[in-house]
Amino acid sequence: MKIQGKTILITGGASGIGLEAARQFLEKGAKVIITGRNQDKLTVAKKQFPDLITIQSDVSDADDAQKLFEKVSALGGIDILYNNAGVGIPPINLGIANDKHIEGATYEMEVNYIGIIRLNNLFMEMLKSRKEAAIIKTTSILSYVPSLVEATYSATKTALAFYTKALREHLRIIGSDLKIFELLPPVVDTEMTASRTGKKLTPEQLVKGLISGLEKNQYTIRVGDSKIMYFLHRFFPKLAFSLVNPKTSHQNIKTTH
Ligand SMILES: NC(=O)c1ccc[n+]([C@@H]2O[C@H](COP(=O)([O-])OP(=O)(O)OC[C@H]3O[C@@H](n4cnc5c(N)ncnc54)[C@H](OP(=O)(O)O)[C@@H]3O)[C@@H](O)[C@H]2O)c1
Repeated sequence: MKIQGKTILITGGASGIGLEAARQFLEKGAKVIITGRNQDKLTVAKKQFPDLITIQSDVSDADDAQKLFEKVSALGGIDILYNNAGVGIPPINLGIANDKHIEGATYEMEVNYIGIIRLNNLFMEMLKSRKEAAIIKTTSILSYVPSLVEATYSATKTALAFYTKALREHLRIIGSDLKIFELLPPVVDTEMTASRTGKKLTPEQLVKGLISGLEKNQYTIRVGDSKIMYFLHRFFPKLAFSLVNPKTSHQNIKTTH
C-alpha cells in the first residue's frame, strides 16, 4: 500500500516504536495523528516533530475512545489505524495466589486487546469507505512462545493475533478491501524493555521493516529475530521456549510474588 498522502492514527505514539513510526511516516509524506495518556509526552513529541497532530486519549477508556473518534472525524478522518499502544505489567509468579494477577491481567487485556477491538469498531466503517485503508496491530514473538516473566502480557498478544487473523478473514468474506496487517516485533530497545539486557532491535530498524511490509502488502510482518522464532516455535518448540525463557530468568519468578 502507498503511505504518501495517507492520514495515519498511531495510538501510543509519543514514545518508543510509535514515535519512531510517526517520524518515518511523516518522512514518507503522510499526515500523522498520535495519542497517549500523558500530555507532557505528547507536548515533547510535538516540539520534536511540529507536523504531528497530538490528542490525549487512553485506549482503555471507552469515553476517551469515543471522543477520539469524534476529534479524528472532525479532522477529516483517517486511512490507517495503527494500534500500537501496549503495556506490560512487571513479572509475578502466577503459581502463588495474589490479587495482583487479576489487576495486572485485566489492565493488560483492556489496553492490549479490548481497547483495540473498541477502536477498530469505532473506525471500521470510516476505514472501509476509504479508497485504500488499513489497520495495523502490534503483537509480538511472545504471541508464539510465552515469556514466563511476562506471562499474562504474552497471553494478550496471542489473543490479539487470533483476533487479527479472524478479522482479516471476516473482511475477506464480506468482500472488503480493508487491509489488516500484523507486526511481530522481537525485543526492541524502548522504555518497555529498559530493564532488560541482551540483544535488542532499534525502533528505527523495526519501523523500516514495518514500512517495507506495508508497501509490499505483506500482511504478517516479522522483523529481525521474529522470523527465526516463527520457524523454531513450529518445528523445535522446546528450543524456542528455552530461548525465550533462559534459566537466568527463573530467578525473577522465584523472587517476585
Ligand atoms: N519493545 C518491545 O520489545 C516490544 C516487543 C513486541 C511488541 N511490542 C509492542 O509494541 C508496542 C509499542 O511498545 P514500545 O516498546 O514502543 O513501548 P513504550 O516505549 O512503553 O511505548 C508505549 C506507548 O504506549 C502508550 N500507552 C500505554 N498505555 C496506553 C493507553 N492506555 N492509551 C494510550 N496510550 C498508551 C505510552 O504512552 P503514555 O504512557 O503517555 O500513555 C507509550 O507512548 C506495544 O504494543 C508493545 O506491546 C514491543
